[in-house]
Amino acid sequence: MQPRAGASMLRAPRTITRSLQASACLECQRVATPNVRIRQSRALYHTTRRKSSAWAAAVSVAGNIVSNAITRATKGDMPVDPLRIVAKEMKFLTGNIRKLLGSGHPSLDRAAKYYTQAEGKHVRPLIVLLMSRATSLCPKGPQRQQSTLQASAGIDTSLSPLSILSDFNPSSSSSTTKPDLESTTEPDILPTQRRLAEITELIHTASLLHDDVIDHSVSRRGAPSANLEFGNKMAVLAGDFLLGRASVALARLRNAEVIELLATVIANLVEGEFMQLKNTARDEANPVWSEDALTYYLQKTYLKTASLISKSCRAAALLGGADAPSVEAAYAYGKNLGLAFQLVDDMLDYTRSGRELGKPAGADLELGLATAPLLFAWKTMPELGALVGRKFEREGDVERARALVMQSDGIAQTRALAEDYAEKAIAAISPFPDSEAKDGLIEMAVKTLKRQK
Ligand code: FPP
Ligand code: MG
Repeated sequence: MQPRAGASMLRAPRTITRSLQASACLECQRVATPNVRIRQSRALYHTTRRKSSAWAAAVSVAGNIVSNAITRATKGDMPVDPLRIVAKEMKFLTGNIRKLLGSGHPSLDRAAKYYTQAEGKHVRPLIVLLMSRATSLCPKGPQRQQSTLQASAGIDTSLSPLSILSDFNPSSSSSTTKPDLESTTEPDILPTQRRLAEITELIHTASLLHDDVIDHSVSRRGAPSANLEFGNKMAVLAGDFLLGRASVALARLRNAEVIELLATVIANLVEGEFMQLKNTARDEANPVWSEDALTYYLQKTYLKTASLISKSCRAAALLGGADAPSVEAAYAYGKNLGLAFQLVDDMLDYTRSGRELGKPAGADLELGLATAPLLFAWKTMPELGALVGRKFEREGDVERARALVMQSDGIAQTRALAEDYAEKAIAAISPFPDSEAKDGLIEMAVKTLKRQK
């Protein structure tokens, strides 16, 4: 596997096994004995973080804060509602996204806006808005002046003449007569950060439109999937259209670093999807279990899920002019939360029914995918190797693999790994000044573990 930029340390938890504590970071991957790797991964983790000062002190007590936060949330204290903290922004999210997606072509207009009709979870925009509010209280970096200027430059103002762009949008705010006064945001969330939240949902939705074609999905968010409703061609083109409009909105944030981050997310999503076409790096017919399979899976998971969450958290902090340690903390929070989120997703695919999920359950094995529950089961059940190698294609493979996973501790190990990442996410933001938004971010990590769909 080649070293990849942007994929930071991905580690299995202390609570699993010592041998699984290897780094999955492709930047830092070394051929080493497990113990050496453990030392390396400890040394390399958060290399960009300050090593002394109040920041380091705060990080060192993070463990206690994490367990207190989780204890509070699980002992029935009044839990924080993350949605309430950014309710005003979230209220206008879908409407604003639809305004970005208007097309003069009626079928494209309908297909592009299709997934905005059903009630999505909007996890990514919610995290971006909470991160924007939480980092507004953090120390500012030298680029603060610039970010304030960018925020006031106008996120709807084109850079090129409109006559050149030739991109008519009948739904855009500029083509309506009245200014949208209601959707003005709280002063601690900048217009650029609100737009970033919308962009994350556009990129995510574009990836779902494409993913549903690749996965031959029949349902999404409790309704027929777009590929079923409009056919594969229109679903793919609608996804492309979303990416185009997301890119325009991104350019109008007028922040090159943020553009680089989010454009890389799009490339990461595709790379993650390509990695997912194989279950192991070598794609052998009869693979034997090794840590490399978990490493490969975690790398794929970073690219497919955690990249968008982590890089958009980082972008939110940058747009708000936060200082470098806060920008790093925002990224670390998003990366660990994203990994926890996908692990729980992969676990629910085994434990919940299709009706409960609002999309087909047990889809991963049907699609030939060996996710965390199966990878953990495989370690103690070598017979799973042949099934992994042939992507569960033979009759009875899916049922046999499922039965073996359910007999194993694969589900419990997946949950433990998700818990470890969620704890790391909470620890990463412990140096942030206390605020409702910070509590909201902590609660998002707790909710990620508790979610049932
Ligand atoms: C859902 O996975 C899919 C993703 C998180 C990313 C899919 C990425 C692509 C199709 C690459 C193209 C990307 C863009 C931006 C156009 P899942 O199948 O595990 O989840 P599901 O059960 O909700 O379908
Ligand atoms: Mg899918």
